[in-house]
Amino acid sequence: MPLDQYYTLGRSGLRVSRLALGTMTFGEDWGWGAAEDTARAMFDRYLEAGGNFIDTADLYTEGSSERLLGRFIEQSGTRDRVVLATKFTYNAQPGDPNAGGNGRKNIMRAVEGSLRRLRTDYIDLYLLHTWDRLTPAEEVVRTLDDLVRAGKIRYAGLSDVPAWYAARAQTFAEAHALSPLVGLQLEYSLAERNIEHEFVPLALELGMGITAWSPLAMGLLSGKYRPSEGGGTGEGRLAKIGDLPGFRRFTERNWGIVAALEEVAGAIGRPMAQVALNWVATRPAVGSVIVGATKLAQLDDNLAALSFEIPAELRAKLDAASAPETPFPYWFFGDAQQTRIHGGAAVGSKPAGYAPPVWVGRVEARAFKADR
Ligand SMILES: NC(=O)c1ccc[n+]([C@@H]2O[C@H](COP(=O)([O-])OP(=O)(O)OC[C@H]3O[C@@H](n4cnc5c(N)ncnc54)[C@H](OP(=O)(O)O)[C@@H]3O)[C@@H](O)[C@H]2O)c1
Repeated sequence: MPLDQYYTLGRSGLRVSRLALGTMTFGEDWGWGAAEDTARAMFDRYLEAGGNFIDTADLYTEGSSERLLGRFIEQSGTRDRVVLATKFTYNAQPGDPNAGGNGRKNIMRAVEGSLRRLRTDYIDLYLLHTWDRLTPAEEVVRTLDDLVRAGKIRYAGLSDVPAWYAARAQTFAEAHALSPLVGLQLEYSLAERNIEHEFVPLALELGMGITAWSPLAMGLLSGKYRPSEGGGTGEGRLAKIGDLPGFRRFTERNWGIVAALEEVAGAIGRPMAQVALNWVATRPAVGSVIVGATKLAQLDDNLAALSFEIPAELRAKLDAASAPETPFPYWFFGDAQQTRIHGGAAVGSKPAGYAPPVWVGRVEARAFKADR
């Protein structure tokens, strides 16, 4: 069962399932989530399948996601087994600038709120949600290190930040022997591959495990929006939200990717969602893929995404159809320029003999049982 094979997250001893359960859809407050009974059924199913890694944020469904999750974990008695990740950054009290952002004052406020809603006295992985353009990386790293030492969090990480900011934070943590940032949570899917330029090499070089969000591009790659069947119709988040910034997925380029995915999924005999998730989970630097669902049947479909392999020639089709553009300066780092630099000798990313940091220890483990 692929869900009870664990990867270590970044350069750490934290073992996480290769598919994490996303809970942005737990609660109906945003108009496209799941009611409590469905959310509970999805939580139970994920744990039964052997999964251990659950992602939420104080922002999600206005706090309902954390509240529901806290209740489910407490009632199922699974707190110790679950690797619980949540995030801070977004403002909780409009009008008060220090009730949001990544400064020490807000982080200290936010962690107490999350602990209360999650009904626990520690968070396993605490993530900065989004760069606030103000707070020095050093302040964030020191504050997260204080939370580790205080026992309120076990590990720290970053989401949605510039690569230079993540590199500065991690280098500062290393130089001062502070808790490292072991996770980097970023959008990654066949329809959104821009992290490959900076973040994938960063994650491999600095020991940060990537956890991929919106791996189905918010449902676009799930199989219910198909050019072969008339395109962007169908019920779901994208159809409900429409053409808002951040949710704009119905583009010509994306329809080309969906068409290639449909063809490959047909050739393998697997649902499109499974093939799209499998592709992300098997990319370099990806520690775990955060799956989202609004219905139990969707989750069941998605949890089978690691039980097959995409043959090389079909993977090449997906890679080609979804290839991101290569802006400056990245084309300098491609094979053509590198061959000139190295006198024709080496085009790999590291010379032979170099030992890359170990970040994907794979451990077989037994399925979940209730906590003792
Ligand atoms: N750090 C960040 O900034 C950030 C941002 C976004 C998300 N996240 C995390 O990543 C998680 C996943 O994000 P996401 O929900 O956007 O992921 P996604 O996999 O791209 O989209 C999930 C949505 O697609 C549809 N879907 C999923 N499986 C399906 C299937 N088998 N058949 C048909 N439709 C299917 C469902 O929506 P409909 O039923 O409505 O179509 C589901 O809610 C979130 O829960 C959250 O934990 C983090």
